This record gives sequence, C-alpha cells and structure tokens, in this order.
Amino acid sequence: MSENSVSSFVARNKTAIIATAAAGITAIGAGYYYYNLRNQVNFPDDDETTSSSTSSGLNAKKKKKKLYKKKKRAQAKANKDIDITEEESISNVGFPVDANGEPDLSQISTAEDKEQYAVKLKDYGNQLFKQQKLDEAIKYYTLALELKKDPVFYANRSACYAAMGNQEKVVEDTTTALELNPEYSKCRLRRASANEALGKYEDAMLDVSALSLFGDYNNASIESMLERILNKRVTENLEGRLKEQQKESHKKLISATDLASFFGSFKPELTFDDFDPENKADVLLKEALETLYAKTLHGFETADEKFAEAIKLYKEANDDKNNKKYAIALEYSGVLDFFKMDAISSFEKVSKAIELNPRAQSYIFMGLINADKAAANGEDYMADLNKAIELDPQNSSAYYHRAQYKFISKDLEGAAKDFEKSKELDPEFVFPYIQLACLTYREGKFSDCETLFSEAKRKFPKAPEVPSFYGEVLTDHGDYAKASKQYDAAIKLEEECAPTIHLGVNPWVAKATVLVAEPTVENFVEAVNLLEKANELDPKSSKVKLTLGQLKLQQSELDEAIQLFDAAADLTMNAEEKVGAIRLVEASKVQKKLHADPFLSKKINELLASIQGGGFGI
Ligand SMILES: *[C@@H]1O[C@H](CO)[C@@H](O)[C@H](O)[C@H]1NC(C)=O
Ligand SMILES: *[C@@H]1O[C@H](CO)[C@@H](O)[C@H](O)[C@H]1NC(C)=O
Ligand SMILES: *[C@@H]1O[C@H](CO)[C@@H](O)[C@H](O)[C@H]1NC(C)=O
Repeated sequence: MSENSVSSFVARNKTAIIATAAAGITAIGAGYYYYNLRNQVNFPDDDETTSSSTSSGLNAKKKKKKLYKKKKRAQAKANKDIDITEEESISNVGFPVDANGEPDLSQISTAEDKEQYAVKLKDYGNQLFKQQKLDEAIKYYTLALELKKDPVFYANRSACYAAMGNQEKVVEDTTTALELNPEYSKCRLRRASANEALGKYEDAMLDVSALSLFGDYNNASIESMLERILNKRVTENLEGRLKEQQKESHKKLISATDLASFFGSFKPELTFDDFDPENKADVLLKEALETLYAKTLHGFETADEKFAEAIKLYKEANDDKNNKKYAIALEYSGVLDFFKMDAISSFEKVSKAIELNPRAQSYIFMGLINADKAAANGEDYMADLNKAIELDPQNSSAYYHRAQYKFISKDLEGAAKDFEKSKELDPEFVFPYIQLACLTYREGKFSDCETLFSEAKRKFPKAPEVPSFYGEVLTDHGDYAKASKQYDAAIKLEEECAPTIHLGVNPWVAKATVLVAEPTVENFVEAVNLLEKANELDPKSSKVKLTLGQLKLQQSELDEAIQLFDAAADLTMNAEEKVGAIRLVEASKVQKKLHADPFLSKKINELLASIQGGGFGI
C-alpha cells in the first residue's frame, strides 16, 4: 500500500489516528482512534450554527425583520391598486359598524350571532391576508377571536405572524390553537418551525417527533426536519461541553480501562539510569512510574500528580545532570495531559522531553499527539513512528505501534511484518500474538486465526486479552455462544489479575452486547446486571454508560438513560462517540417530553396498541 493511500485513508476518515494497545481495533475494525472533534462533527448549516449560536440567532432575527419591512414596503406599493373595494368593505358584508365605520361587536349578543359574525370577520381577515395586509388581517382575526375562541382563528393569525417573522407570536397563537385542538397538525408544524427559528430546538423536536409518529405529513420531509433540528441541538450541546472542557477543573483523566489498555502496549518502565534515592525528584519519578504501570483504578491519577511534582523539582534544581530523568517525567506527564484532552500542554511537555533527551517512546507519544491535530495526516504520524524506530531499532513497542497504524490503514502486509518484528524483539509481549491472529481473520482465514489464538492461549494462559479478543473475532463471525464463553473466561482472568487492570471492563461490555443480540428476557436481565457491575468497577468508562443507557432506554427508564448518556458524553475523548452520546441525550429528552404530554402520550399508547399483537418481548 502506498504512502498516498495511507494519507487518503486518514483524510477520508478525518481522523487522527492512534491505536491504543489493546485495540479491539483489529478484528472488527471498530477502531480506537482519536478523532479531531470539530472535523468529525456534522455541523448542519454552517452559517447558522457553527458560530456562537446566540449571536447568530439574534442576527438571523434582525435580518428577518429587515427583510420583512422591505417586503412590506414593496407590497404596500403593489397593493395600492388592488385595495379592498367599497363593495367588499366590512359594513357592506353586513357587519355592524360604529360611527367611524369600525366593526362594533357590542351589537352582537346571541351565541348564534357571535358564531356567524366571527366567521365573517375571519373571512375578511383571510382576504386581507391574501393582499398581504398583515397588520389589518391580524386586527380582524383578533376581532373574530373576541367573538369566538376558535383554534382556526388562532391558526390564521399565526400565519400572519409567521409571514411577518414574529416567531414569538407564532408560538403563542399556535400553542393556544393546540390547547383547543391538539390534533391540529398544521399548527404543530408551524409551531415547530417558529421554535426552530427561535433556537428552541427541544420544543421544536417535540412537535416534529409527534408529527412523525402520527404520520400526518410526508414522512421523509418530517424526518429530515427532525434530523436537521436534532443536529442543531447536538451542535449547541457539543459546543457548550467543549467550552466547559477547556476549564482547568474539567481536565480529568479518561477511564482506567482505557488508560490501562494504552499503557499495556508499552514495556513497563519501572526504573531509570542514575536513580538517586536521596533526590526527592528521583524518588517521586520512580514512584510515579511504579504506580502508573501497576495499572490500578485510581493509580493513574496518583501517578499523574507525582510526575507533575517531579517536574517541578527538576525544574527548580535546574541541573543539566538531571536532563534524562526530567525528560522522562515530562514525557509521561505530557501523554497523561493528552488523556485529559489538554492537547496544548501535552504537546509542549513531550516536545520539551524530546529536546532534552530524544528517545523512542517520546516519538511514539508525539505521534499520538500530532495525529490528533486538526490538520493531521497519516504521514506525520508515520514519520514520528519511523523516527522512534530509527532511534531504537530494537524497540518492540515502536514496531507494535507502527503495525497498528498500518493495520487500520489497511496495509495488512506491512502490519504483519511489523507485528512479527515486535514479537521477535519481545516474545513476552502478548499483543503482537493477538494482533497477528486478528489480522489472519481479517484476511479471511478463520481456522488459521483460531489456531493462532490457541497458540497464544498456550503461551499466555493467564492473559485475559487472549480470550477477550478471540471472543471479538467469534462475535464478528456470528458465533455468539462460543464468543460468550470466551468473554466469561476473560472476565474470570481479569478478576484474577485485580487490582491490576488489563482489559478493564471491556469483557463485561462485550458479554452484555452478545447477550442482547439475542434479546430474551433472561439475557436482557443478565446484560443489565453485567453492565451495572462494570459501571461500579470503572465508573469512568463511557462505553459502559452508553451501553447500559441504551438498555435503560429500551426499558423506558428515561431519567436513568439520560444521566448515563450525559455522563458518557463528558467522559469519552472519541469525537464520534461523544456526538453519538449527545444525540442519545437529546433524543431521550424528546422521548421524555412526549411521555410527559398527556395528549401525546395517550396517542402514543393508542398507536402502540394498534400495531401490537404481542409486545416487545422485554
Ligand atoms: C385560515 O384558516 C382556513 C381554514 O383552515 C384556511 O383555509 C385559510 O387558508 C387560513 N388562512 C390563513 C391566512 O391562514
Ligand atoms: C408515514 O409513516 C406511517 C407509519 O410508518 C405510514 O402509516 C404513513 O402512511 C406514512 N405516510 C406517508 C405520507 O408516507
Ligand atoms: C522502548 O524504548 C523506551 C524508551 O524510549 C523504553 O523505555 C522501553 O523499554 C523500550 N521498549 C522495548 C520493548 O524495548
């Protein structure tokens, strides 16, 4: 595969790619990449939504008003000739008028008269509307409403306000009309458009969802309207979150599961040259490394603090003798900043580490950081990895990471070579064995892949990674029962490793996912139990929260689902997953609103009853 296709792969996916260790990358191709957030999101109408939504909302309103005034002036001119004639004036249609020729409602008293005259006023309003005399039309609809609170009159008046761009008034009138007649679909659609224009996306989505459910309109156009508004709301939500994330207090490490699998792809570095037990900074650095590679639930935070303290002390000491050690502290602190989504600090620290003491691992980390930048392309990442290999041609991690990258770039041959090299340089490193097996599966050689997994299992009988990834292959192959057994084995081995994390909660999630692929009541209950357990084991795993949230959603436990999706959206650093989680938050909120509306929830239940013979099985 040429360099060129590598970069086009990256460009196409707009990714900045980094393989973590453990991957899961492989068999399924469901990569563990870090996407560049802004690029990944589909911002709907660029001009309307990407800039700060409040100010653009205001501008849009101003523009509309201006446009309306201009239109009105033009129309006034055009209408001069087609004014309502004497014959058609309100008195001539038999309406009681006062001394000024204005309609006089005080003369109308019986209910029957009120009804009849209200229609006259409305008809008159309709004529004025046709002539685009909107202010006048509004006046007559308002008079009609004084005689009769008819939803049609409110709807008529809202049409005038809509033509004038007065969205608040549109919402007011359509809301009244819908209170009087909740089946009034035309008003629901009009209210949705007005709310969309006002930036009240949640309200708009409620109405559009209702229309879509009841099938009153062309489904495709309603669906696309819903999609458009949902996108706007998701964008708004995402922008708010990204802003929050910039705050210092929000810079938190991602889940222990994800960190453990990342650091699992490096050889544990537990000590370093020139360690001086009398030097406080050295002691801190050593403790930090030991804590990090112990890979426990809370160890990463502790290690992070210790790296930071060591950096401070090395900096204060300002002694060139320390450069190599200082660089190690900077390198790790930098990569941990990356996992706090602090790209700038991360880049600065790792750059400085490279300046002080270039070494293979710093370049691998740098590759990771560079690949996540907006303008990233495959070659940059590749260049960093090549530098790492140049510096240390015996470094198995460097080959492993380059292989990973080649793998997701679909350069299977190149990947296989690098995995082999990585395996040869460090025969005790489990991942190349697994990846080679997955790669074989990718090439369509299922039974060879099974053989490789058996070999890996013989060599690494205690490694939960082997059954877990074998399970993924089996799942992909459609053999759920066998996969399920492998996940059980992985869970057992992972529990035996505790408190050290290898795969973290991954096998729990995988097992739950396989279970719900065959959604019997028992499977569903077991899946929920597994995920609730996983949520306790690693409360920062977005994957667990997303999966559990979807099961809660199916059970109509909307509040719980929303909470889980919301937390997942904050926790994940994968842009695609973040956007997906936010979509789920917003969609669930609409569900909740639908259920809270007495009329709509009643209609939904009727609808369900009419399409249901048997229930959902759950
Ligand atoms: C007023 O309502 C009637 C009945 O729905 C409709 O035929 C007419 O077009 C409406 N006029 C306006 C201006 O909306
Ligand atoms: C919209 O979908 C509903 C339910 O799926 C269907 O009954 C209705 O006929 C569809 N309407 C149109 C206009 O396609
Ligand atoms: C790779 O290089 C790093 C230093 O950059 C070192 O800590 C690590 O042990 C090396 N890994 C292997 C597998 O040789």
